[in-house]
Amino acid sequence: MRDGKRVVITYGTYDLLHYGHIRLMERAKELGDYLIVGVTSDAFDRDRGKLNVYQSLSERMNAVLATGIPDKVIVEEFQGQKIADIIKYGVDVFAIGSDWEGKFDFLKKYCEVVYLERTKGVSSTELRADKNRSVAVGCIGADYLTGRFISESAHVPGADVFGAYQLDTPVHESVRAAGVSLYDSLDDMLEHAEAVYISATIDRHADLIDRALDAGCHVLCESPLFLSRADGERLFAKARERGLVLMEALKTVYFPAFEHLRLLLASGVIGEVKDIAASFSQIPDFPYRETRYQGAFYDMGAYGVLPAIAFLGSDYQDARLICVDDDGYNVWTKAELVYGTATATLSVGRGLKTEGDMVITGESGYVYVPAPWWKPDYFEIRHEDLRDTRKFFYGYQGGGQRYETFEFMRRVRDGADAYPARFSEDEVLATTDLVERFDAGDVVRLGHGKYAFGGGERVTDR
Ligand code: CTP
Repeated sequence: MRDGKRVVITYGTYDLLHYGHIRLMERAKELGDYLIVGVTSDAFDRDRGKLNVYQSLSERMNAVLATGIPDKVIVEEFQGQKIADIIKYGVDVFAIGSDWEGKFDFLKKYCEVVYLERTKGVSSTELRADKNRSVAVGCIGADYLTGRFISESAHVPGADVFGAYQLDTPVHESVRAAGVSLYDSLDDMLEHAEAVYISATIDRHADLIDRALDAGCHVLCESPLFLSRADGERLFAKARERGLVLMEALKTVYFPAFEHLRLLLASGVIGEVKDIAASFSQIPDFPYRETRYQGAFYDMGAYGVLPAIAFLGSDYQDARLICVDDDGYNVWTKAELVYGTATATLSVGRGLKTEGDMVITGESGYVYVPAPWWKPDYFEIRHEDLRDTRKFFYGYQGGGQRYETFEFMRRVRDGADAYPARFSEDEVLATTDLVERFDAGDVVRLGHGKYAFGGGERVTDR
């Protein structure tokens, strides 16, 4: 009881708000004088495996508020929050639809629990089924990444991966096991596809993207997208003209923890960001030295510099790439980026291994993301006084690629410009500039020979 008012609380996802939701809220309100509606956060839904929610948290909250029924709308972020809310808001009645009958009896210790008859014949699931129409997706390339894309796509509603064109790499066993059709001709496959996923070395991307766009297909392509800014600008313009999505497969961007961290940093939790230090290294369990384009920066550079581009912006003022090569193959690249009032030191390595954590230094504290920062599920915000440390956990399902594919499908179905890209053209092109510089040999190259750290002769290729 609050100010003599009987407080009622209810929770839900409220995706694609419908008549059933409105009736539920109206009846809940009639149980008291003051109604609080808890709307699940995107991260909470994903965390509990509800991956198919169509609208974002802000879209869903706005729709609930616009009904004018609730007196207050809050966000439900974690399991166990209901008890905390009931105590915090002095709740008298917890109300929920009858589909949850019995599931919330444990709250009876704290308040009255009422199950309200669910409205027949309408649900978000049905409405989503219309939205989640199936999209025929073809794969260009049939390597292990394609295998992973196919298995993760099985968890994305409506992503119907039907086939793969092998390119010139052998068909990976996981692609074979997935049972998709294998095509000898790219044109044949493109004819059946509404969208494509491309996994090839970076030197092939521009041409393959071009062909896919010409065939009217939306494109999700492995990173980094382009070897040159000119290619990037041309192909983004082409995609725009044709109303097609062109998206970089940079899975980290779509991880719940990464998204949340990005929002927290933008809202100033550690003040202005002053420095970022992170490394991404890998000793692959597949043959990885068949072409120089499998080298560290060519293949992993976009992940390497992602923290700077995502948290400090696209407008770095100066950049230096320090490279260690072995027999023409890039083993290690350290990118030093200088911004107006911040710096970043980011490394990528392939064929060697180092600690893969990330530290983001700010004016009033810092963020620590344990390894592997590129597949984040946990981070801490730390301050001078260690007792002020805040810990954040946002789990992810499977290998994490499904979030990226989900976003790709959402943009394919709703229109290329229905939502702002989460990793924008500017951000892709700022990354491309670094790849282009690397490709032109505009780097500091440490002496040749196996892992010539320190000992080698220092040359600038420029
Ligand atoms: N609800 C209802 N009648 C419906 C649909 C939902 O009374 N036809 C109630 C639910 O029982 C819950 C609240 O509305 O108390 C929010 O439900 P939510 O899970 O967001 O909506 P659903 O349509 O049930 O979503 P889904 O299909 O994803 O389960």
